[in-house]
Amino acid sequence: MTFNVTQSSAPCGAIIEGLDLTKQLDNSQVAALRQEWLRSHVLIFPDQELSDDDLERYSLYFGHFGYDPFIAPIDGRDHVIAVERKAEEQAPVFAEVWHSDWSFQEVPPAGTCLYSIKIPPLGGDTEYINQHKALAEMPAELRAKIEGKTAIHSARAGYSPDGYFGNEEQEADRSMRIIVSEKANDTWRHPIIRRHPETGVEGLFGCFGYIIGIEGMGDAESRDLLMEVYSWQTRDEFVYRHHWQENMLVMWDNRSVLHKANGGYDGYDRLLHRTTIAEQTAA
Ligand code: SIN
Repeated sequence: MTFNVTQSSAPCGAIIEGLDLTKQLDNSQVAALRQEWLRSHVLIFPDQELSDDDLERYSLYFGHFGYDPFIAPIDGRDHVIAVERKAEEQAPVFAEVWHSDWSFQEVPPAGTCLYSIKIPPLGGDTEYINQHKALAEMPAELRAKIEGKTAIHSARAGYSPDGYFGNEEQEADRSMRIIVSEKANDTWRHPIIRRHPETGVEGLFGCFGYIIGIEGMGDAESRDLLMEVYSWQTRDEFVYRHHWQENMLVMWDNRSVLHKANGGYDGYDRLLHRTTIAEQTAA
């Protein structure tokens, strides 16, 4: 092993030390990191002073860039977005709900990298929740209700003109470059219980929010079932709570964890740069 791994005491998350991510990694290091990522779901690299070039190079070790449909990139980059909130900003905290990034796409992204540039002295943690463990420990009665069922995913509640980010008054001073679009009304279907594309391990994929219904079920019936699943899959015992410091890179696996942002830092700036890693598909 060419780096040190410290597992968190939570159901996901591992701290990786002993690598300098401003330097090119070799194939054996990347392969070992990939194994650790698949095992721990969330990798945390403290004390890395990374440029956007470094962030992009690191992301590309794990696949192509994914497509970020509803957030415009920062100036001069096609694949880096800023997750930003200014000290005086009134718009609600971005992504303060459980989700798997862009699960509403035909082929949702494998992973996300988030690099911390400006971190407030309090608040602003990101939580991750292990969806392999949530399924493995799910009561049989609840599992039977979702076995073989297909979820309908959509970005409409967030990014359509009638969605959350379409509220111009609320969004007036948001720093983030959100793109509201009719395209957000599109839907894609994915199994609720899905095998991880690389490991084959079964997990719950996505949750109420980007999931807007279940195939073959009425609105009320599917909402009730999705809420029942949500109450289970977001239980505290599956959570890793990440406390940021500046110059930290975190990479998570969207196929096995949900995540959410947290507020609690009004009056302080917070800025992170983010890339999306596409799923590897057969040629
Ligand atoms: C995100 O979902 O990418 C943002 C997470 C955060 O700001 O903590």
